[in-house]
Amino acid sequence: METKNTLLSVENLKKYFYTGKGVLHAVDDVSFDINKGETLGLVGESGCGKSTVGRALIRLHEPTSGNVTLEGQNILDYKTKTDMRKMRQEMQIVFQDPYSSLNSRMNTFDLIADPLVVNKLAKTNKEKEEKVYRMMETVGLESRLAGSFPHELDGGRRQRIGIARALILEPKFIVMDEPVSALDVSIQAQILNLMDDLQKEFSLTYLFISHDLSVVRHISDRIAVMYLGKIVEIADYIDIFEKPKHPYTKALLSAIPIPKYGLERKRIFLEGDVPSPIDPKPGCRFAGRCSECMDICKTETPELKDEGKGHQVACHLYK
Ligand SMILES: Nc1ncnc2c1ncn2[C@@H]1O[C@H](COP(=O)(O)OP(=O)(O)OP(=O)(O)O)[C@@H](O)[C@H]1O
Ligand SMILES: [Mg+2]
Repeated sequence: METKNTLLSVENLKKYFYTGKGVLHAVDDVSFDINKGETLGLVGESGCGKSTVGRALIRLHEPTSGNVTLEGQNILDYKTKTDMRKMRQEMQIVFQDPYSSLNSRMNTFDLIADPLVVNKLAKTNKEKEEKVYRMMETVGLESRLAGSFPHELDGGRRQRIGIARALILEPKFIVMDEPVSALDVSIQAQILNLMDDLQKEFSLTYLFISHDLSVVRHISDRIAVMYLGKIVEIADYIDIFEKPKHPYTKALLSAIPIPKYGLERKRIFLEGDVPSPIDPKPGCRFAGRCSECMDICKTETPELKDEGKGHQVACHLYK
């Protein structure tokens, strides 16, 4: 439900890929809002469509249909170069693997200055230099690293460059697509803390994508759970962990190594195969693997419905 606190509103977003084998429903009618200053975690198994949601939101993949509004402006209506540039400034993305997303022939300084140059946001070299060195300090990169190339830096520092490149345009919203999944566990915590500090300092709003519920738990205010192109549950992070409703969410939780939430519960092993996202059949996409599957689940697709206090679930068990 859109309110005055809503920064980003996504309505009926679809992204289909037309493949030789049929239409791949990577993102199939997904709706959610993100409030100003909030982090929405997006979790689910590999291939369920998380990155495609993140990319379609900022039009790195042009959506098949739907609406995406940022502070009331439908960004899918943007057509002119000026509009597109404004959108690129306001909405940024940080990728999983900074090594492959950074140009290996550019040094730290140039990598961070690049978005300023492309968007013509520094009038003089002096202004550019000031902005880059200030940003390096903000993300915890020592100024002596300005001349270093990506291959000379460790994964944590490379991801700090990725974050600096997103932040230097002063965006309102950032998609974080598995930003710590490629990092050593010890460095993951540092980068998560940095993102948390930056969020407070610059009033940022995040969509934080991860396949790992225990990572998402630390940073999210609310969590959305995806299964095969659809959101099956959204709630406050506490409710997802303590009062999960969807059988798929329960299965995901039972597998995580957090005593309170995971191991003390009976591990639910998912049976059956993940169905193909190509030309999916009607009915609940999880039906074939669900221990609580009923007849209706095989024919009718459940809608995402509010079960109270914003806890939404798409499951026929809740009527
Ligand atoms: N450019 C593309 N062309 C065709 N199919 C694609 C394309 N990008 C993604 N897909 C397909 O869309 C589905 C969703 O992929 P996506 O990368 O969004 O999943 P994900 O949840 O981010 O997975 P992971 O956890 O592995 O990153 C997959 O079936 C994938 O093969
Ligand atoms: Mg992905």
